[in-house]
Amino acid sequence: MTDQRTYLEVKRTVDDRALNRRVLERFVAELDARSSPVRIVEIGAGIGTMIARLAAWDCLPEEVAYRAVDRDDESIRRARERVPEWLEGAGYAVERPEDERGETTLLARSDTTRIEVTLEVADGFEIEDRADAVIASAVLDIVDLERAMPAIEGLLEPDGLLYAPITFDGGTTFAPRDPVDDRIERRYHHHMDAVRSAGGSRVGRELLWRLPDAGWSVLEAGGSDWVVRPRAEGSGAKTGYPDGERTFLEGLLETIDGALAELAGNELDSELVDLVPGERRRWLERRRNELEREELVFVAHNLDVLARPPE
Ligand SMILES: C[S@@+](CC[C@H](N)C(=O)[O-])C[C@H]1O[C@@H](n2cnc3c(N)ncnc32)[C@H](O)[C@@H]1O
Repeated sequence: MTDQRTYLEVKRTVDDRALNRRVLERFVAELDARSSPVRIVEIGAGIGTMIARLAAWDCLPEEVAYRAVDRDDESIRRARERVPEWLEGAGYAVERPEDERGETTLLARSDTTRIEVTLEVADGFEIEDRADAVIASAVLDIVDLERAMPAIEGLLEPDGLLYAPITFDGGTTFAPRDPVDDRIERRYHHHMDAVRSAGGSRVGRELLWRLPDAGWSVLEAGGSDWVVRPRAEGSGAKTGYPDGERTFLEGLLETIDGALAELAGNELDSELVDLVPGERRRWLERRRNELEREELVFVAHNLDVLARPPE
């Protein structure tokens, strides 16, 4: 089994390629226009890859207070190990003073930017704050939006920003094609919509009407599809999957298989065509073999959204 923290670590380069640069540029410009220090709250920060990315890509304004929250204590424990290393790798000098509650605060300085980072275990929709920006990356598709949206609004300054990149939007495809791919995809998405306790398979586009309906302004939105494929040199010789992305695909196949296994014991939507017995195992075996032979290609559809709360 791929551990969730390892999955988040190997997901980083997939997200790096996927993030919609137009939406990110607007987010960075909006942050730049705010007065210092800029306060950012990240909900569902996982192991802290977004902090590291924004620092490494020079996306942060001069002075930033960055509060990263996740309800999973193992992820925050990993973040406390990895974020200082990543920030140092990005050219920051990092100090680790303890705050008055004994929590780890990192003080990271580069020639242009000073970031104070706190990494905290909490339910991000229960905390209190007053933030210039809330980031929720690959999070809004797995939570209850009815609870999340008012909570995020309550965390933001009146003219604050919600940046919600990598929000799943209904597309899970593999190549080479297999006759049961479409059925597998529909079942996997049905699991997100009807079996999982919260979230859904089309939350990306849902945000585009739910936010305006609730009085938010969507400033930018755009696709951020995941594309994972083995690389080839100019000569056509394969050079394998980049970084840890083979592990990313292993984790993803496990997730899909787990969802389908759970569906098997549930009442199904009558529109879902059954898989004949053994098909799920055959499909998984085939995909694992293709991964082993470095032939498997995976594409998923996500959306990035930047929005401002109601006035
Ligand atoms: C798919 S992961 C994404 C993690 C990270 N944003 C990334 O992209 O690498 C979703 C994360 O949201 C966290 N999460 C879900 N609901 C949460 C909540 N109510 N409060 C805080 N974290 C939450 C999970 O623990 C998990 O780490």
